[in-house]
Formats: sequence, C-alpha cells, structure tokens
Amino acid sequence: MFKFATLLALASLIPAFVEAATSPIYGQCGGTGWTGATTCATGSTCVYSNPYYSQCLPGAANPTTTTTTTTTRPTTTTTTTTPGGGTTTTTTSAPGTTSTPDAGNPFVGYQLYLSPYYAAEVQAAAGNITDATQKAKALSVANIPTFTWFDVIAKTSQLGTYLADASSKQKSSGQKYIVQIVVYDLPDRDCAAAASNGEFTIANNGLANYETYIDQLVAQIKQYPDVRVVAVIEPDSLANLVTNLSVAKCSNAQTAYKAGVTYAMQQLNKVGVYMYLDAGHAGWLGWPANLTPAAQLFASLYKSAGSPTFVRGLATNVANYNALTAATPDPITQGNSNYDESHYINALGPMLSSQGFPAHFIVDQGRAGVQNIRQQWGDWCNVAGAGFGTRPTTSTGNSLIDAIVWVKPGGECDGTSDTSAARYDYHCGLSDALQPAPEAGTWFQAYFAALVKNANPSL
Ligand SMILES: *[C@@H]1O[C@H](CO)[C@@H](O)[C@H](O)[C@H]1NC(C)=O
Ligand SMILES: *[C@@H]1O[C@H](CO)[C@@H](O)[C@H](O)[C@H]1NC(C)=O
Repeated sequence: MFKFATLLALASLIPAFVEAATSPIYGQCGGTGWTGATTCATGSTCVYSNPYYSQCLPGAANPTTTTTTTTTRPTTTTTTTTPGGGTTTTTTSAPGTTSTPDAGNPFVGYQLYLSPYYAAEVQAAAGNITDATQKAKALSVANIPTFTWFDVIAKTSQLGTYLADASSKQKSSGQKYIVQIVVYDLPDRDCAAAASNGEFTIANNGLANYETYIDQLVAQIKQYPDVRVVAVIEPDSLANLVTNLSVAKCSNAQTAYKAGVTYAMQQLNKVGVYMYLDAGHAGWLGWPANLTPAAQLFASLYKSAGSPTFVRGLATNVANYNALTAATPDPITQGNSNYDESHYINALGPMLSSQGFPAHFIVDQGRAGVQNIRQQWGDWCNVAGAGFGTRPTTSTGNSLIDAIVWVKPGGECDGTSDTSAARYDYHCGLSDALQPAPEAGTWFQAYFAALVKNANPSL
C-alpha cells in the first residue's frame, strides 16, 4: 500500500520532468554521446537516423508492422456482349488512376512540394548567420524544393505526413503537387565507399528488410492517390555494379541490389510513382567505355522487372558537382569527351533507346553552381568552394531532360572528416573537402553558408 502511494507520488512528478527535458521538433534526441533530451515535443517523435543521430520529426511513431490500410480507387465496370453471345468484362480505373502514366514529362503542370524538414533546417541555419545579406539569401533557400531522402526505415512514416500536407495544399490551392523522394536503403548500401553505409546488411536479412521498407513507402503512397510522387531510385547502387565489381562488398551485393531495385520498381509502379533510376554522373558512367555496359544493365533490369510503365528514365549527378553544360571542360575531366552532364546524357540516351529503356533524365544541379573546384573528378565529399546551382526547372534546353532538380539537400553533410569515426571515408579528408565535417546526413553549417555565398546564379 505504502509502496503504491510512493509510486503515485513519483508518477505525479514525472510529467514535469519530462516536459523540461524535451527536444524541440527537428531537435536531436539521441545518438552516440548524446546527453540531452531523448523525448520529443508534442506532435513529434524521436526517429532513429543512424547510430550517431536521432531526431524529433513531426508526426506519430512509425508503424511497426506494415499498415494494411488500402484505398480502393473508384472503378467502372463495362460489360460488352461479344458477337458469339458471350460477355467480356473490362474494369478500368476512374480518372486520377495511377495505372497508366501520363504521356510526356511528369513535371510539367505540377508544383514541387517544399519539404518542411529541409525548410526547418534552412531556417535554423539562417538564424545562425549574422550578416544580414547572407542571412536573407540563406532564408530564400527554404523556398527551393529539394528531394527528401528516405535513408532509414524509421523515416518512412514521414512520407505520409508530407503527402497529407501536399494533398491538402492541393485541395485548397487547386494547384497539383509533386512530392520528390529518394529511395535509399538497399542492404550493404554504398558498397564502394564508407560514409553512407546503411542500416541493413545482406548477411542479416537485409533484402527482406528492404522489401518491408519499400512496402511501408508504398502503403503511405497508396493513401494519397491524388498526389504525384517522383522518386530517384538508389543513388550509386547500379553504377557501382557497372564499375566497382572488383570491390568485394559490391560483387557480394550484386544479386541483392538487383533484386531490391527490381522489387522497388515493381511495387512503386503499382502505386503510380514516376521513377528515375540513379545513373551516377558524367565522370562515372559517362566514360565512353562505361556507357554500353551501363545501358545494358539498366535495360536488362527494367525488362526483367516487366518494363514497369512508371519507370521514366534516369537521374544523373545526384549529390555531385558537375555542370549541366560547362563553358569549358574542367581540367579534371581530361580524356573524357563527355565532360559535363549534357554530353553524358546525349551519349547515353540513344543507347538506352536502342536497348528499349526509356531515355528521359533528371539532373541534380543543387550544388553545381561553381565549376573547377575539384582536384580529381572522383572527389565527392563536401567539396570546398561549391555553390548552389541552377534552380529546379523544366526549361532544360534538352528534350532528353525532363527537369533540372535539387536532389541533395544542400547543407546536409556528405560524410565525416573525423578519421576515427566508423564511417570515415578518406574522400572526406582530402584537401579539397571542407573540414571539420560532421556525420553524413547531419547539418554542416559552414558548408551551407558557403553554398549560399557561392550560389550561381546568386540567391
Ligand atoms: C545555432 O546557434 C545556436 C545558438 O547559438 C547553437 O546552439 C546551434 O548549435 C547553432 N546551430 C548551428 C547549425 O550552427
Ligand atoms: C569505383 O569506380 C569508380 C569509377 O570507375 C572509381 O573511380 C572508384 O575508384 C571505384 N571505387 C573503388 C572503391 O574501387
């Protein structure tokens, strides 16, 4: 009895204590070495990002099991009497169906949804810039749409939050919206580098876990058939299968990567997601010797997946720094006639077409505003001197290119420069990489400030 009373007394103290130790929305709430609050402000949940970082994200906790909610599209059933007296029944989905993609460029006529997550990061970052001109420029970045990376399964429930928001904005404005996402959680991810190793391993049920991850994205998308979703599928993965099979982790991952990407294409196709498979960049698959094997790999995977109709093409230059059209070739590109993304795309496009793969592209220009800043073409980590680039647009000047997009959210770090960190990659310690740099995916304030300052066109 006494014990019970003590517990009650203690319990009454707890709410006050919890409230005091609550992290704000988008604040950190966990990770190695974190000693601050591990509970989140009302309306947000602590979401695991990686062993070093958990963050308070808006919305409820992620469903632990795949949601079984399904939204059935209205259908029309037509019964026709055939000459022989039998009947055939055709069931077609009502307008708004996602069973057949729109012909043409999926970006045209749509507004790009602004990720509230990135906008909040940018606003917080701008708050730390003292120079009034730079601060105003920094704030304007919050209005430029970027893709949202779903890099851990714990974040998948965020997609539903965004889709619900886009759906309501769409209803109130009459303007149609696209939510742009990056599907990025293959087992043994980032097989040729160290900074972005993922949460799933092939050895530990990784492919099945990946399928659950895809299923959770699909379950959310299914609930908002009115909102268009465009996805970049698995940055670096297939490009690594073209050029890096000599790396043991890549050759071991080959079967799982192919199975995972096939599953992603097939399932996302069912809910009408317009997909662009990642195709590296000019300095990777754009080398003449790599073009044919690349086209063959994309086409064979696509065909074996059943030629999913919502696969629209390829995404290039994701998180990279290449110009779409370089005024003059950067000296580091010497030896490659495809020295910028336009040359790469113009060379690859016809090869894809002849193999039966849809030759449409989107190109990341988010951090490509400044050229000739790298020592080697392969340098990819937090390259110093980079600036925000051409804004997202469908005016691309190239019929193969659907849109210039910002895939990499500028300011989020590519990888840590801490040589003792488990995910340290030497590229992040090179002399052309800005340092000190925090863990991949976390905010890198000095880098963001430089992207703002060096933006071209200027902000
Ligand atoms: C911004 O400033 C606040 C207050 O000085 C500080 O706690 C926070 O770490 C800073 N954030 C960044 C990203 O620099
Ligand atoms: C992966 O392939 C690229 C392009 O050929 C090459 O530059 C890079 O060094 C390779 N990575 C590893 C770890 O071998």
